[in-house]
Amino acid sequence: MTTLDTQLCTLNDVPDGGSNGFVLDTDDGRCGLMVIRRGNGIVCYTNSCPHIGTPLDIQPGKFLDRARAHILCTTHGALFNIDDGLCIAGPCVDDHLTPIATEVRDGAVFVDKQTLPTIWPPLAPVPTVEDL
Ligand code: FES
Repeated sequence: MTTLDTQLCTLNDVPDGGSNGFVLDTDDGRCGLMVIRRGNGIVCYTNSCPHIGTPLDIQPGKFLDRARAHILCTTHGALFNIDDGLCIAGPCVDDHLTPIATEVRDGAVFVDKQTLPTIWPPLAPVPTVEDL
């Protein structure tokens, strides 16, 4: 029985040949995820650069370089292979992005929410008038 039972997005949420970013709540925070799509195939990694742990996308959801050949960390310019997440250029060469197992079913992308790492703290509550 599959444990990949949490819908992350639909295929249509990710442009073919492009990327998008998503956030899921975890037990003690949040997990940012990047999804890169090629046709019906997708790869997914946490949105955390192995260099210093920052999100890779300055423009939300834009994870690829201009040629759409590699994943680009916009903080210091590291380049990663799309297929295996290996850093091939930049300050963290030979490190890897953290892969996330996915399954595509009926046009939607599923993950196992129980195994997602927490990479960001929970969102702070929005203040209300009573808090002021
Ligand atoms: S934080 Fe990604 S290359 Fe430095």
